Parts: sequence; structure tokens; C-alpha cells
Amino acid sequence: MAVNKQPANAQNKLNKLTLELEEYPMEELARIKKELIKKGRPVFDFGTGDPKIPTWEPIRDACVNAIPEISQYPSVKGPDDLRVAQQGYLERRFDIKPDSGYSIIPSSGSKEAIFHIAMCLVGRSGGKKHIVYPDPGYPVYRSSTKFAHGIPFPIKLSESNGYLLEPWEMPPYIQRDCAAIWLNYPQNPTGATATREYWKNVVDWAHKTDTILLSDDCYIDIYNSEIDNKPVENDEEDERPACPLQFSSDRVLTFQSLSKRSGMTGYRSGFIAGDSDIVKGILKARANFGVGSPDFISSAAITAWNDDEHVRERRKIFTNRIKMAAPVFQNLGLLDNAPDATFYLWTKIPEVFGTGDVRYCLGLAEHGVICSPSSWLSESIKGYARFALVPEEESLKEALEVIRDYIIS
Ligand SMILES: Cc1ncc(COP(=O)(O)O)c(C=O)c1O
Repeated sequence: MAVNKQPANAQNKLNKLTLELEEYPMEELARIKKELIKKGRPVFDFGTGDPKIPTWEPIRDACVNAIPEISQYPSVKGPDDLRVAQQGYLERRFDIKPDSGYSIIPSSGSKEAIFHIAMCLVGRSGGKKHIVYPDPGYPVYRSSTKFAHGIPFPIKLSESNGYLLEPWEMPPYIQRDCAAIWLNYPQNPTGATATREYWKNVVDWAHKTDTILLSDDCYIDIYNSEIDNKPVENDEEDERPACPLQFSSDRVLTFQSLSKRSGMTGYRSGFIAGDSDIVKGILKARANFGVGSPDFISSAAITAWNDDEHVRERRKIFTNRIKMAAPVFQNLGLLDNAPDATFYLWTKIPEVFGTGDVRYCLGLAEHGVICSPSSWLSESIKGYARFALVPEEESLKEALEVIRDYIIS
């Protein structure tokens, strides 16, 4: 037997990339929360975007009823009836016809799909290496690019243009060398949304520059529930968040998820849909990743994608919470407009804290309110805090009092 006699320490047991990884910020929040609970203090957790609303019962039943006596490997492609349910959803929600030339592949939630896609795209088309993404934004856009040996290129979003990432404004060398671009509207953490016109422009830009447009559509169904009551005569009047796949499937991929739409974060279920050439390649790659969803999860997912009513009910809950919380921050001068979508409030921090968003959030945490400082959600933006409207109404009311007292004291 070969014996490795080389001395080993933590520094040479892992590669540089892994050693240099920052701790996932949410872990830090979990630690603070644990400390508070240990001290017996009430905790109002606005940290992680994982609302505790029961999953619709038929979804749970579908899962339980599908647990087999004999368990076998699931296929990466997923069962046909799952694909049919996902296609049905895309047609009902976005008027994307199943025969419009796109392909579909299930994912185990969108996080892993977002992470893995970089490996398939970095180096494409003669060596394009940059992956562009919004800052602030979901941290996996960056980490996946680095693990794929690409070059991360964050674009700082600004309140002045509604937090829209305008890729045509990027330096020409980036536009030339851009393997892919991540967009995420409705956006975490800003709650920003994009118009249909914006999407059409971005799709055109992606075609002109030969860039793959990756649309992270995790929050696409979490919009103001009042829109549900408005009659829609034609597409242009449709105020619901749009998806770029509505405008073209050429070089466009949408990443959909049941996590926020159906309250299924723990099930890990979503899908990628778009450009058939790309999806075909991803399918081959994904056979290596070990990310096939168990069939009982697929059964739950079929029930979820086939129904819109439970999603309407979820939207009402989040809209109500935004209506409760946004005015409190607006009256304190920390928020201009209530968001039209997501369940996040991206608030400024009080002036006395300067850019000390971490100090502000740690101070709030001492009073039992957990939220995320912008420094943990962004590579460059300071002076903001994100409140995920996770606490239920009673507790939210109490927490808003605590926040108000802390800020005006
Ligand atoms: C913007 C964004 N994208 C993707 C995800 C991943 O979601 P999931 O893997 O649960 O589908 C999240 C989770 O919070 C998110 O905020």
C-alpha cells in the first residue's frame, strides 16, 4: 500500500479557491440567532429568505404518496409528466408555447443549476471567460464563475435607474468577451422589477453580442397580489413580471424554482428552460453532477406546477406583509418606494451609521431583530440592509415596533 509521507496541514489539503472562500453570510446570521436564543431573548428573523408558510397540502400528499417501496436512481431528464407540467406552467403564465423551439430540464432547486451552468459556459465561443452579474445579487453567480475558472464581472446596480443592469453600458471588451450574463428580475435583494421593453432590449443585446442570457426567475411569481385582480386585454397590459424566454429562446435560459413560488425550499425543485442547443449540452453535463431529483419530489413538483391558486394565496400574504412593513421604513426615511415584487425590503441605514451597515445590523440583532447588512450581500455596496419578510403578521408587528424604537432612540 502506498503511504503518503508528505507533511499535511489545512493549507495544502485544499486548493486556493476553496481556502479563500468566504463563509456563506447566512451562516453568520444563523450563529447570531443561536446566541440570542441561548440567552432566552425573543428573535425576529428577517435574515434568510425562507418564509415558514405551510406547503399546500396536495403538494405534500403527492410527495408522500409517491414514495416507492423500492428506490431507484432518478433520471437526469426527469419523468415526462414533470416536463409536461412545467411546459403547461410556462404556457399559462408566459404564453410560451411548448412547440416554440425551447427545451426543458429539471433541476434540484435553482441554486445547484445556477452553480453548475458556469462550467458549461466559461470558455465558449473561442474562449469567452467573463460572466457578468448584478451587485448586489445572489452570491452563487460569483462563486460558480470562480469554480469554473471564469472571470467574475459584477455590475453595481444603482437606485437611480431602478436597479436595472444595462449591459450595453459595459466596457466594449467585456461585451465582446462575455460568455454569459445573469439577470434576476424580480431581484433579490432590491425587489426591483423589469419591464417587457427592458427584456426585449436585453435579448437583442445578447443576440448582437453572442452572450448567453441567464435569467434567474426564482421570484417571478412573487409580485403584488393586486395585479391578480386586474383584467388584462393584451400582452402589453400584463403587469406581471415577464420572462425573457417570452421574447426568444435563442441564447436565452430561464431558471425557475418552486422554492418561493410554492413554499418548497426544502424539496429542492426547479427547472431550466430555453435554447435547445444549450439544454442538450447541459443534459449531458448534468449526468455527471448527481443532481437528478427523486421521483417523489417530481410528483410533488407536478402538483405544484399544475396549480396557480396556491401561489395566488402566497402572493396575498407577502403583499400584506409589504403593506405592513414598508410604510414604517418609509416614515423613517429609509425606504423610497415599497417593492412591487419579492418579499424583501432593501432599506437604507440611518445616517448616523454612515456606511456601517454591519454595525447597524449587529445593533439591531442585540434587540432581537435579525436582518442582512448590504456588505454581506454585495461586493461593493454599503449602507443598506435587507429585511426578508419572513416573520408572521403578529410577530412582524412586534418586530416593527422594536425596529422603530431602535432607530429613533
Ligand atoms: C436570487 C435567487 N436565486 C436563486 C435562489 C436559489 O433558490 P432555490 O435553490 O431554492 O431554487 C435564491 C434563494 O434564495 C435567490 O434568492
